[in-house]
Amino acid sequence: MNGSAQAALHEQAAVATRGQFGREVFVRAVVEVSNFCRENCAYCGMRRDNRTLARYRANHEQLADLLVHHRPASVTDVNIQAGEDPVAVREVVLPLIRTLRRETPLGVSVCLGTLSRELYVKLQSAGATIYIIKFEIDDAASYEKLEAPGTLSERLDHIHSLAGSGWNVSSGFIVGLPGQGPSDLAASLKLAGTLPLRGCSVSPFIPGEATPLAGEVVANTNWTLNCIAALRLMRPDWVIPAVSALNLADKDGYRRGLRAGANLVTMNLTPDDLRGDYVIYKRKRFIMTEERVLDAITAEGLSPSRRSLAEHYRNGVTHPAATGVMTMAVA
Ligand code: 5AD
Repeated sequence: MNGSAQAALHEQAAVATRGQFGREVFVRAVVEVSNFCRENCAYCGMRRDNRTLARYRANHEQLADLLVHHRPASVTDVNIQAGEDPVAVREVVLPLIRTLRRETPLGVSVCLGTLSRELYVKLQSAGATIYIIKFEIDDAASYEKLEAPGTLSERLDHIHSLAGSGWNVSSGFIVGLPGQGPSDLAASLKLAGTLPLRGCSVSPFIPGEATPLAGEVVANTNWTLNCIAALRLMRPDWVIPAVSALNLADKDGYRRGLRAGANLVTMNLTPDDLRGDYVIYKRKRFIMTEERVLDAITAEGLSPSRRSLAEHYRNGVTHPAATGVMTMAVA
């Protein structure tokens, strides 16, 4: 789908977004606290078999100082992200969350992989309320072939049990993995719709350096944007991020995401000396700085939400989902 039908789809999604959230978008910061990873996902540059990375764990005091004293005024939430590294969860993430909750009003989300129940409980007790855990792809055989974490059904079990124990769960999937066609995208949308989520991301596949998929092609941006729009129409109340990979897929991709139903932006506050080795796609990243994020919002006639995402989830009403979108063409 492209041309005027696509423009109409995106406009309909933008209208649905404004109906639910007005012109405000959530602004969060991400800190990437460890690039150690025990997983080996074929698409991801941080996979354990990639020996070309210098692995690091950040110092929680350095990050706390940055976030408590030097964060941009527009930031209402922090997402703490890492490879799947339980050591970093204990040594860096937990103390950082405790400091943030004690000294700031920031909402805290975490994206740390599939962990033990014990660690989920500790993270929640420390004060995190949002868990980001992507299902990546809807098909169990492809999931296994791509060496994504555990099995698809285990991943879905974690999503259900996190939601059942009080987390606000956001998931996500990748569009345009090698061999994926339109029917796979419809299936990923459909799977997302069955899960107990408050948000979902759509990431365009970017061939990662030093991965088995390095020679494959970048996802089609239109497919990615059409999935964002379809997701918005399917679940008007979900929080849908404009992911930074949209910048790598297309020079205007990020702003087009905001035009097609996304309502959350993320600025990267990982200290410069660490960032170089946090490589999901390529070393040469397109870093979403405060300036780039705020420029994109302003250029789209939007404004930063003063209410945090965590607060929104705490108080927000959920609206009944729209139906009928599943049959819509996304390609
Ligand atoms: N292209 C697109 N998205 C990717 N991710 C990892 N590698 C890629 C890639 N090559 C996404 C996955 C993962 C998140 C951290 O980044 O969805 O969960």
